[in-house]
Amino acid sequence: MTSLPLPTDRPRRLRGSGPLRRLVAEHRLAAADLILPVFLAEEATEPRPIASMPGVVQHTEDSLRAAAQEAAAAGVGGIMLFGVPATKDAVGSAATDPAGIANRGLALLREEVGEDLVVISDLCLDEFTDHGHCGLLAADGTVDNDATLERYAEMALVQHEAGAHVLGLSGMMDGQVAACRAALDGAGATGTAILSYSAKYASAFYGPFREAVDSQLRGDRRAYQMDPANRAEGTREALLDVEQGADIVMVKPALGYLDVLSDVAASVDIPVAAYQVSGELAMVEAAAANGWLDRRRTITESLTSIRRAGASIIATYWATEVARWLAEGEH
Ligand code: PBG
Repeated sequence: MTSLPLPTDRPRRLRGSGPLRRLVAEHRLAAADLILPVFLAEEATEPRPIASMPGVVQHTEDSLRAAAQEAAAAGVGGIMLFGVPATKDAVGSAATDPAGIANRGLALLREEVGEDLVVISDLCLDEFTDHGHCGLLAADGTVDNDATLERYAEMALVQHEAGAHVLGLSGMMDGQVAACRAALDGAGATGTAILSYSAKYASAFYGPFREAVDSQLRGDRRAYQMDPANRAEGTREALLDVEQGADIVMVKPALGYLDVLSDVAASVDIPVAAYQVSGELAMVEAAAANGWLDRRRTITESLTSIRRAGASIIATYWATEVARWLAEGEH
């Protein structure tokens, strides 16, 4: 028998048992780092399932209270609210109406779980406009960046008043962080934080979300959201937002953009979040429903990958369920 050279390095040594693997794991998920995105619909009289997002609903006020309590009990870190108003118009009036559905929802969440969960708004106009775009339209039909900033600044104040701890700026207008920060500071709201969707791509993976917010969008958002072909630009966007006073920067979607996430995490010294979006959920749920993927392992692996790439905070529709799994794992 010829004697083969034996390996001197044996990485397998640390993979031999569950406790060993757990001991040497470089990255871990934690419930406190998860944000649960939720939908509150003005016209819902009972929770309405969203067909393309299995397990996710448009809430009523009562079911939202219950979901928020469950998230808090499971140890989730934050809750992010999207409002679905009954009426939409060209300027998204409901967005700045203190009695509008999203602002009522923020107040409800602040009252219900405000001591336990970070209450995060969505600061964008698309849920409120009849044309479905994230800002005001100019005469030529394009989104008018600077006119939109005025609306965002108004929204910042109303959402602060409603009780949001953190404002989630998701519109991808240039200068939106500086505009909202100035508006908040001018009103003495220096303690209200800004989470900026800095590197938000014009993604097909938002498809199911459009159903979730009854979006009227015709066309697409490629004239303001980022081109999926661009990587360096993601870092540029994040650095601009840091300069303008963002407290947290976000990359969105998550799984297809781990390179961008990794770059951003290496470039900024503030917390970095990632948003596992509606299409990421839909793919896994559809495959799992067919028995083609192990649902729990796929969800855990995708979240772990997002964390490994550099996200310290992850927004995921599975937040409460995953938080429960993590608690089980501790016993
Ligand atoms: C815009 C917004 C969108 C999502 C979150 N905020 C939609 C878009 O930009 O088209 C998508 C979230 C998801 O797909 O889960 N307010």
